[in-house]
Amino acid sequence: MFCLHSILTSVILLRSPILLVWHDQLPVAGVHVGVVLDLGSMTGKSCETSMTMALEDFYTIHSNYSTRLEFQFTDSMDDVVSAASAAVNLLNNSQVEAIMGPLTTVETEFVAYLCNRSQVPLLSFSATSPSISPTHLPFFVRANLNDSSQSIPIAAFIQHFGWRQAVPIYEESAFGSGIIPSLVDTLQSIGTMIPDRVVIPTEASDDQIDDKLHRLMTLQTRVFVVHMLPELASRLFLRVQALGMMSAEYAWIVTNSVADVLDLLDQSVINAMEGVIGFRPYIALTDEVKSFSQRFKERFWQDNLVPEVADPTIYLLWAYDAVWALAIATEMVKETTPNFAMPQRGNLSTDLSTIGVSQTGPELLNAIPSTTFGGLAGNFRLVDGQLQLVPLEIVNVVGKGARRIGFWTPDEGIIREISARDNTDNDNIFRSIIWPGDSTVPPKGWVEPTNGEILRIAVPVKTGFTEFFNVSKEAQKDVSTPTITGYCIDVFKSVLEKLPYAVPYEFFPISVDSYNNLVYQVYLKKFDAVVGDVTIRANRTNYVEFTMPYTESGVSMVVPFRPDSSQSMWIFLKPLTPRLWLYSLAFFIFTGLVVGIIECNNDEFGGTGTLFQRFGIIFYFAFSTLVLVFAHKEKLESNLSRFAVIVWVFVVLILTSSYTASLTSMLTVQQLQPSVTNINQLLKQSDYVGYQHGSFVKDFLLKLGFEEAKLRNLTTADFYDEALAKGSSNGGVAAIFDEIPYLKVFLSQFCDKYTMVGPIYKTDGFGPLLQDMSRAVLSLTEGDEMPLIEKKWFETSDTCSSTRTSLSSSRLEFDGFEGLFIITGTVSGIMFLTFLGKIMYVNRARIIQGSQEVNEMLIWLWHIIRHVFLRAKHIIKGVISMVMKQLGVQARLDANQSNIELTRNY
Ligand SMILES: *[C@@H]1O[C@H](CO)[C@@H](O)[C@H](O)[C@H]1NC(C)=O
Ligand SMILES: *[C@@H]1O[C@H](CO)[C@@H](O)[C@H](O)[C@H]1NC(C)=O
Ligand SMILES: *[C@@H]1O[C@H](CO)[C@@H](O)[C@H](O)[C@H]1NC(C)=O
Ligand SMILES: *[C@@H]1O[C@H](CO)[C@@H](O)[C@H](O)[C@H]1NC(C)=O
Ligand SMILES: *[C@@H]1O[C@H](CO)[C@@H](O)[C@H](O)[C@H]1NC(C)=O
Ligand SMILES: *[C@@H]1O[C@H](CO)[C@@H](O)[C@H](O)[C@H]1NC(C)=O
Ligand SMILES: *[C@@H]1O[C@H](CO)[C@@H](O)[C@H](O)[C@H]1NC(C)=O
Ligand SMILES: *[C@@H]1O[C@H](CO)[C@@H](O)[C@H](O)[C@H]1NC(C)=O
Repeated sequence: MFCLHSILTSVILLRSPILLVWHDQLPVAGVHVGVVLDLGSMTGKSCETSMTMALEDFYTIHSNYSTRLEFQFTDSMDDVVSAASAAVNLLNNSQVEAIMGPLTTVETEFVAYLCNRSQVPLLSFSATSPSISPTHLPFFVRANLNDSSQSIPIAAFIQHFGWRQAVPIYEESAFGSGIIPSLVDTLQSIGTMIPDRVVIPTEASDDQIDDKLHRLMTLQTRVFVVHMLPELASRLFLRVQALGMMSAEYAWIVTNSVADVLDLLDQSVINAMEGVIGFRPYIALTDEVKSFSQRFKERFWQDNLVPEVADPTIYLLWAYDAVWALAIATEMVKETTPNFAMPQRGNLSTDLSTIGVSQTGPELLNAIPSTTFGGLAGNFRLVDGQLQLVPLEIVNVVGKGARRIGFWTPDEGIIREISARDNTDNDNIFRSIIWPGDSTVPPKGWVEPTNGEILRIAVPVKTGFTEFFNVSKEAQKDVSTPTITGYCIDVFKSVLEKLPYAVPYEFFPISVDSYNNLVYQVYLKKFDAVVGDVTIRANRTNYVEFTMPYTESGVSMVVPFRPDSSQSMWIFLKPLTPRLWLYSLAFFIFTGLVVGIIECNNDEFGGTGTLFQRFGIIFYFAFSTLVLVFAHKEKLESNLSRFAVIVWVFVVLILTSSYTASLTSMLTVQQLQPSVTNINQLLKQSDYVGYQHGSFVKDFLLKLGFEEAKLRNLTTADFYDEALAKGSSNGGVAAIFDEIPYLKVFLSQFCDKYTMVGPIYKTDGFGPLLQDMSRAVLSLTEGDEMPLIEKKWFETSDTCSSTRTSLSSSRLEFDGFEGLFIITGTVSGIMFLTFLGKIMYVNRARIIQGSQEVNEMLIWLWHIIRHVFLRAKHIIKGVISMVMKQLGVQARLDANQSNIELTRNY
């Protein structure tokens, strides 16, 4: 042992002078760098070769550099404690400036803590697990890609094939579990579920592996992501093939830890892995890489005399680049004398606490990230203490090895070729892939599970509205095979068909007193889900998750149409409002008087008869304009009266035709008026109202201010009908509140008797089960299928579809005719005045000469006339309101006719 040691020492001693001789004109300072590798293994040996070559290459090119890295290789012996003790030795005795290696994640983690303590940079090129993070251990520098950088590409690949479930299989170690957090996160972010995960101990026997695989076979998922070191992966895939799981319908994905070394695996393993997809960093095959590869093989063969040397893996390239980075950084710092500050010995001094703290380490650490150069494995640039992201290569294991099928780049995602020109073909984003079982069809990612978990689904048993939900009587007894039909069930089944995986389920009909309670059963985990007409309410979301709603939502009320008034014997009075009637009457009299006075000399107007006869003829004339219009037998003699009558007849014409139209509509449409138009009316009259049994509408009504005693709970549409028909005062209800889907079903059966009125109170519609179904619900409601399902259950009869009730009053108001009345009033007035003027003019001589009394009488007459015409409107209004008060009608003449109407009629 001593002998060997002295030989090694002499080799080192021999080498150094040679280096010095080469560049003897320059003073060169050696910088000690410790390297911890598993020198007993092929990987360790090839890393040693690669790093030595890197050092030689570097100083051949940069011969004028004033620093020289001097490697001190130590053996970790594939053991965590040995690696740690090697590191302690390097730090304490050799006082190295930096450490490189070790190979495995677990060893690296231990050494990283030691280095962080001594403030010596640890440059790792092979520890890819994100469990060691440069943010946590600042002196750890990762000259490679961490494993989580593959999560996004793998998720993108899974998303591309629409797989909604995937199961990670990883080895039980810090390395294996390191990828899981980021893999789970990214898969969840694309909505892919992880129904299970399988951890395989590194030392697992084949039987143990078989057990795990058997468990996987029972799952419905057929997409597996394998993240483990090549030794375990080789054994796993041999078992996978032996159990027939490398067949059609399966998709296997491996991470770079296996994909990187596919060329080194045993041919039997490669055969077993046929169809596997792998992700690995992409290395452009540049001249430098080719040359390095060539030289490496020769060198390795010379050093180790192994029969066959494989192409260097990416780890060797990373090791090579890391050496260069360290060499450049060292040259930048130029501080070469090891300078360790020894800790003061405390009372509790242990061996490890005697290790000093490097004074140059922090400086070197700062220099490393600023080294950038074109390395073998792409541009060497450190971002946040680790290598910047590089494109990943996606490979498919076919035949003797890996075949590239596509790329993933941080900017563009999955592409077919790294040279952008070739990426326009969106349909064939990948080159043809051979899936397991020699299949060229992408697996759908799931199968019917053989013994997956069966979803226990509660369905409400209800007596009414079986269109939504119909649990047959027999089914309620024989729970094992309930026959359940209905709209909700059809929607549910269609949604399940749309899901990208199978959901086995079993229905359990439950009689509940309230839907809140039903929802609560799910919260208590008595059932996994509820399918049914469960409305999404804020309170309920505290207990369960809802899917998207699939029905129209909201609460409204149905009321009977108002009692049929077309049979009333006074219906003919209804078309005009009382006010309009009175105005019309007043104008009849007025026009009649005007015409009568103008025609006072006309014999046909009783010019020769008594006063009483004259009045009779005048009013007969005025009223006859209503029906006879022009067919008077009386001939008007004065042009003044003719003009007044023509205008009046015009007004009458409009009035009568409006009356006719209004009466017609009253006899037909008017009867479809709702008896109640708003909730306040119900509250004021403290009517009974109904709601559906078990529904949240009860709480809603209580909140609106109804007394609990005034609420009646109803179940079926027939009861609804019965209760509404009875009316509030006879043990029935005045209105029924319910959700719109039910009301629609109800109205489709009784559209001729009831109508839906009132504001719609917003709720969120029905929605059952599972968050993931929401997408399926949406695609269902947006697709063609939904109208078919709706048609199947809610087909309305033809008679109902056409009747649309108009809720506005069709009574004729005075306001609409005011203009006409003003016109005819003005015209008649002017005619009357003209007539008076004419008479005065004709008799002017008599008036002028006439006695004082005549004059006074005339002046008095003039005042009266003027007064009457100026105040005509007010007087008429005053008279009418007086009359209406007598009739017991509220004299609110300005508007609100419908209110007046309601208070009077009901
Ligand atoms: C080494 O020589 C190159 C030119 O051959 C020069 O550009 C570089 O600055 C020199 N470096 C040092 C450290 O002297
Ligand atoms: C690593 O070293 C830094 C600087 O000395 C220190 O702040 C940090 O706490 C250390 N981290 C751990 C995990 O010991
Ligand atoms: C791993 O790499 C990704 C991508 O470069 C990075 O976002 C993440 O922070 C890294 N994680 C650790 C623990 O270094
Ligand atoms: C060492 O021990 C002595 C007495 O036991 C105590 O007074 C002193 O504080 C300790 N020093 C440290 C650094 O713990
Ligand atoms: C470090 O070196 C000193 C002397 O060189 C020695 O006394 C001490 O035991 C060493 N510590 C470890 C942990 O090896
Ligand atoms: C509900 O089911 C019963 C028997 O299963 C059937 O007679 C009835 O017609 C169904 N109702 C509806 C609305 O389909
Ligand atoms: C919410 O629902 C729970 C369970 O159904 C019920 O106990 C609670 O009273 C409800 N809260 C309100 C404010 O409605
Ligand atoms: C009708 O009456 C109500 C109160 O009785 C009042 O708030 C409303 O403004 C009235 N409408 C019109 C058009 O005058």
